Order: sequence, then structure tokens, then C-alpha cells
Amino acid sequence: LNGKKLVVVSNREPYMHIRAGKDIQCIMPASGMVTALEPILKACGGLWVASGSGDADREMVDENDKVLVPPYENKYTLRRIWLTKEQEDHFYYGFSNEGLWPLCHIAHTRPVFRKIDFDYYAEVNQLYADSVVEEIKNEQEAFILVQDYHFALLPRLIKEKRPDAKVAIFWHIPWPNSESFGICPWQKELLLGMLGADLIGFHTQYHCNNFLETVNNTLESRVIWENFSVKIGNHFTLVKPFPISIAFTLKDYETSNEPKREPVEILRQYGLRTEAFGIGVDRIDYTKGLLEKFQAIERFFDKYPSYIGRFTFVQIGAPSRTLIKSYADIVSAVENEANRINWKLKTKNWQPILFLKKHHSHEEIIPFYQSANFCMVTSLHDGMNLVAKEYIAARDHNDGVLILSQFAGASNGLYGALIINPYDIEQSADAIKAALEMPGDEQQHKMKHMRRMVMSHNVYAWAASILKSMASIEN
Ligand code: G6P
Repeated sequence: LNGKKLVVVSNREPYMHIRAGKDIQCIMPASGMVTALEPILKACGGLWVASGSGDADREMVDENDKVLVPPYENKYTLRRIWLTKEQEDHFYYGFSNEGLWPLCHIAHTRPVFRKIDFDYYAEVNQLYADSVVEEIKNEQEAFILVQDYHFALLPRLIKEKRPDAKVAIFWHIPWPNSESFGICPWQKELLLGMLGADLIGFHTQYHCNNFLETVNNTLESRVIWENFSVKIGNHFTLVKPFPISIAFTLKDYETSNEPKREPVEILRQYGLRTEAFGIGVDRIDYTKGLLEKFQAIERFFDKYPSYIGRFTFVQIGAPSRTLIKSYADIVSAVENEANRINWKLKTKNWQPILFLKKHHSHEEIIPFYQSANFCMVTSLHDGMNLVAKEYIAARDHNDGVLILSQFAGASNGLYGALIINPYDIEQSADAIKAALEMPGDEQQHKMKHMRRMVMSHNVYAWAASILKSMASIEN
């Protein structure tokens, strides 16, 4: 960073303070964006600007709305922005999550665009821009890393006030084709806002191309296809893929000497007896293919009944955005589906699906990753999906199998995963059988390869390559 100030901006904060009886607990929310960015700030220091969202957040900040985090480690500063109820309703729930989220994910949930949501979206982007500009007022040079679809307008707003600052925006979710994106009534404003940045990052080249085509079809600006950049007036924006990852280093890669955890042990606490289990970890979101996953499990038992009583699928589901109807609906649909399948197949000490509907910390999830026979990711569309990489990182005996949707960005580089189309229930059911019956040496071969991939393309390499690209751009 060479003495430059690093500022990360996102809507979701990395730490939330919440009341638990008389105590205040500090938790890390379920967010791939947070999973990826937090280790970077911990390693580099700097400032993270994000919306306060915990019910005890206000009690933990100083008079400048700042708190040092992680608790007891104090590696970097979190500055909390306070949104009003109306801002949260329209900026976060409305435009970001009922508009842009379904617009960018091909999961067949119709986006909703309301003018009032967009007006608040613009207002909150301006609020963040003012805070960032204020934070860097004494800095000669600053690197601003804007995160995700909540802040498409922010790069331009920052640059208008501080043309000398280096600004990048990383889009953690897919970018659809130009025709799909075109249904957004404010597509021009969003594109111009993003193009205020010096650098725009997506997970894949495919999403970069979709973005550039959207620009080409919508704006007067010039797309320079030779180097994937856009020119507006005298300003250039580079558009590049940076596949995100997790904090998995050479030290973590070394094989464990600890005895292997037996799959059955962890399920005893739930009163279940089984020989093998599979694990899924997702926010409860209609893009994650949870209904399709449960249907594949049901089909697996129909096709291969000898597994009844011997295999259970554990799904950890963190409730998410539940004030939005499509999210409330998917929670009950997923619960009903698990209950229906369990009712149909369960025996005295056994059930086919264990659905744990609750936020779990990373530490609580690790033992499930370490002892599951396989992990199953069925996203109908997903920017990257870091659960796939976290499962691989946890497999320190180099065994286990990853079943992975072809529609998750992670499927691009993880050769060794069993790739499925989650809409194809037969194929997914067969992948479960293949995972449970994969010979040990084949598991080792595939898992070692994937572990090396994740280690050599970890999130530190991701951040280094974004910062390097930013540094090489002339203002
Ligand atoms: C996705 C988005 C993140 C977001 C996370 C959790 O991974 O890309 O920006 O933080 O979902 O969603 P939430 O709405 O709870 O922040």
C-alpha cells in the first residue's frame, strides 16, 4: 500500500454487536463478502465503512461512530453509518435486494423497481460518499475499495469530490446479459456511477463481457475491447476479473496430524444415528437452490433405498432478508419440504434431512465441514460461492467430496468437484451416490488438487492483484 490509506466500503458490516440478555455479543454476519474482505483488513489495517445493523451497535462506538475490531485484536477501524428506517426499507430491502439482487441472478424471481427505492438508493450512496470523502480529507493518497451492488453510484460520487483518489468497485454477484439488465429503469445512472471508478472487478471474464456489452448498448461511451476498458471523456475505467477466495495459506494447507473426526459423532447431539452425512451451508435465499437440493436428496433415497437409515443430509441455513416476501416465502417452503421428506422416510433414530435454521459462527460450522462425507452447493446462480472453498480448506486429511453447481462462479477453477446442474434432480441424486461411493484414493487426488488451487489463489492474492491493478492506473 506504500503508506496509502485503505478504505473498504460495504453495506454489511464485518462485526455486529447484539444484545444477548444482559450481555453484548459480537458476531460476524453470514456474508461471502465479509468472509473474503475481513482477513484483508486484518492483515493491512485501514478503515471499513459500513451500515450499523446490530441492536447494540450504537453502544460500542466512540463519538465519531468508530470502533476498533476484531474485538480484543484491534487491527482496523470500523466506522458505522446509521441509516433511517426509510433508508433501510428502500435502499437495502427495496432497490438493492428486491431490485438489483434478482436482476443480476437468473433465479426466475422477478425484480421490483420502484422510484422511491431508487431515490433512497441514491440518497444512501450520497451519504456514504460524504463519509468517505470526509475520512480521506487529510490523506494525500487513498485506495477506496467499494463492495457490491448496494453502491453502484458511489464511485462517481467519490471521484467528483476527490479525483485523485484511486477508486475500485468489486461486484460480488453475477452481471446478467445486456438485454436482462436493460429492464432496470435506472440502468444508465447505475452504469455511469460505476464508471466513475478507475477499476471495476467481477469474478469472471464472462461477467466482465456482459458488463461491457451492457455499456456498449446503453451509453455513448467508448468500450475499448483490446484492453477491456471504457472511456468517458478523459476518464478510463478498467474492467477485469478477480475471482475472490478465502484466507487459506500454506500454513493452513499442511496436512493435519489430528485424528480424523468420525462423521457419526457430530450428529449424535441431535439424537441421530447414521453412517455418513452430507453438509450444505447457505443463507436461506431463493438463489441457493435449497428446494432443488432437498428434492435431489429425496430422489436419491427413492433410487438407492439401501441408504435409508444410513445417510443424513445436514443443511445449515442462516435466515436472511426475511422482511422481503420472497425470502419469507422461501424459508417456509424450504422448511415444509424438509418436513415432508422427513415425514415420508424417517425411522425411529434416523431422518434423511436435518435442517438447522439458525445463524452459525464459522467455528461452529468447521466441525461439520471436517466430518461430512461431502459438501453440496446447489446455487441456481452465484457470483462465486465461498462455502465450496471453505469446505475444501477444512479438509485437512485431503478426503471428502465437493458437489458443486455449474452456475456458481467457483465451478470455473475447482477441477475435482462433481459438477451438477441443480435443476437436474436425477443428476444431483446420482452425484450424491457418486460422492458417497468415491474410492479413498480418488478423493485424495481430487481434494489435494483443489486444496492447492484454493491455497495458491487465496484472498490475499485476490487483494494484491486488485491493489496492483489500481496502483498501475494513472489518474
Ligand atoms: C451476498 C452479497 C453480500 C452480502 C451477503 C449477505 O454475498 O454479495 O454483499 O453481504 O450476500 O447478505 P446481506 O443482505 O445479509 O448483507
